[in-house]
Amino acid sequence: MTINKEVEFNNIISDILKNEEFIDLKYEIHHGISRLDHSLNVARLTYKTCKKLHVKNYEEVTRAALLHDFFRTEDVPEKCFLNHPDKAVENAKKNFELSSVQENIIASHMFPIARVTPKHVGSWIVSGADKAVAIYECTKYKVPLTIGAAFLFFMNVCFIQR
Ligand SMILES: [Fe+2]
Ligand SMILES: [Fe+2]
Repeated sequence: MTINKEVEFNNIISDILKNEEFIDLKYEIHHGISRLDHSLNVARLTYKTCKKLHVKNYEEVTRAALLHDFFRTEDVPEKCFLNHPDKAVENAKKNFELSSVQENIIASHMFPIARVTPKHVGSWIVSGADKAVAIYECTKYKVPLTIGAAFLFFMNVCFIQR
């Protein structure tokens, strides 16, 4: 990213990174790294994708991307793991102002395997970015993230089951 974009990205998320409950995600393991680092990777890819696609509410979407996995593993029983977006919404609402768009972005990020459907462009972007980043983190396979995101976005559209 250019320095200007790097500065803007940091300004958008800076208050979230000062929240003690949120930065405790650095102690949670997620795809072999910390959940804080995973969330930052998804937020960064989301920001870049929004800028490329000229998404007007890119700040709102980028913040929701950072908050999409705001939960502690111990608060989500293993057999209920697909409910973790609900816990992330709850935690995000408790600590920050959350718009209805941001709520849908977080709640639907596990689409299509979880029950909530993405209703906004930002929801589709974050859902795709999360999957692309997850594959990258899990495999360390150096597929360019934009190609991975495009592929997963396509897969999401193809496998809509409702
Ligand atoms: Fe998640
Ligand atoms: Fe995630």
